[in-house]
Amino acid sequence: MPVRGGVPPHPAAPEASSGLPRGAHLWKHGGVRKFHAVPLALLGAGAATFGYASVIERNWFRLRRVDVPVLPPGRPPVKILHISDAHLTPGRSRLIHWVRSLNALEPDLVVNTGDTLSHRDAIGPFLDALGPLLDRPGVFVYGSNDLYSPRFKNPLRYIWRTSKSDYSRRRREPDLPYRELGSSLQAAGWLDLNNRIGRLKVGELDVEFGGIDDSHIDRDRYDKIAGPVDPQADVHLGVMHAPEPRNLDRFTADGYDLLLAGHTHGGQVCVPFYGALATNCGIDRPRVKGLHRHRGSWLHVSAGLGTSPTAPFRFCCPPEASLLTLVPR
Ligand SMILES: [Fe+2]
Repeated sequence: MPVRGGVPPHPAAPEASSGLPRGAHLWKHGGVRKFHAVPLALLGAGAATFGYASVIERNWFRLRRVDVPVLPPGRPPVKILHISDAHLTPGRSRLIHWVRSLNALEPDLVVNTGDTLSHRDAIGPFLDALGPLLDRPGVFVYGSNDLYSPRFKNPLRYIWRTSKSDYSRRRREPDLPYRELGSSLQAAGWLDLNNRIGRLKVGELDVEFGGIDDSHIDRDRYDKIAGPVDPQADVHLGVMHAPEPRNLDRFTADGYDLLLAGHTHGGQVCVPFYGALATNCGIDRPRVKGLHRHRGSWLHVSAGLGTSPTAPFRFCCPPEASLLTLVPR
C-alpha cells in the first residue's frame, strides 16, 4: 500500500536515475575500470612494441650466411659481403661500429646495393663504417634515398602501394650528395655500376659485373649494359638496388649467375608466422629477402642495415648484412 507523504528518492541517486537495484553502482564502477583497462592495455602493448621495434630490434644486427653454387668446378670459394640500405644518419653509432666489425669476416669482395644515405652529412660516417673494408675490392649502385632526403610519410601506405609514386610526384633535382658518395667510393677503387659493366679480380676469380641505377625512380637503363655475358669470365654478377622483375628477367636472359639487390628491407615490419606485408616493388613476398632462384640465376635480396629516419622501427625483421660464399656448382 503506498505511503502518503513519504520522502521521494533523490533524483541524483544512482538507484533512482538508472532504475538499477541498490548496490548496482559497485558493478558499474567495476565496469568503468574494465572499460578503461582494455584500451589502456592495448596502448601499453603498442608503446612496448614500438619501443622494442625502434630501440632494440632496429639495432639488433644479424649476419646472414649462405652458400651459392655458381663457380666452375674446382675453383676455391670466394666470400662476398653484401650490404644494403644503411640509410645512414651521423648519429647511428651502433650501425657504424657493427659494419666496421664485418672486416673480420675477411670478404674477398664488398657489394653495396644502395640507399646508403639519409642525411647530407652521412658520407663521412659511412666511410668510417666501411673503414678497412674500403681496402678490399668493392662495387656499388645507388638507391633513391642516396639522391633524395627523407620526408615523413605514412609508414602504413606500403601495404597498399609502393613508394614509387612519392618520387614521381616530387621529382626534382636530387638534394643529397650522391655524386660525392660515388666519388669517395671510386677513390678507394670501388666500381660504380650504375648502368655500367665492370670487371674485377676477386681472389683468384675473374668476375664480370653488370649493374643498373635505381628502377624505383626510373633511373635504370638496362639497354646500356644489355648483351650476353663474357664466357671468358669465371662468374657474372648482376647488381641493382630494387629487385624489379623486368630487370631480373633481362639479367637472367643475358647469363648472369647471381643477382644482388636490396630495397625491400625484408618487409621491415613483419607479422609472426606470416612474414612481410609488402615488398615495395614488383618482387613477390616469398622472395622479399634471402637467397632464391630467378629462372636460371640465383637472386639474393638483402633485408638491409637500416630504416628511413622517418620510419625508425623494424619488427620480426632484424637489420642484416650477408656473407655469401660462392662455391663450385
Ligand atoms: Fe632502403
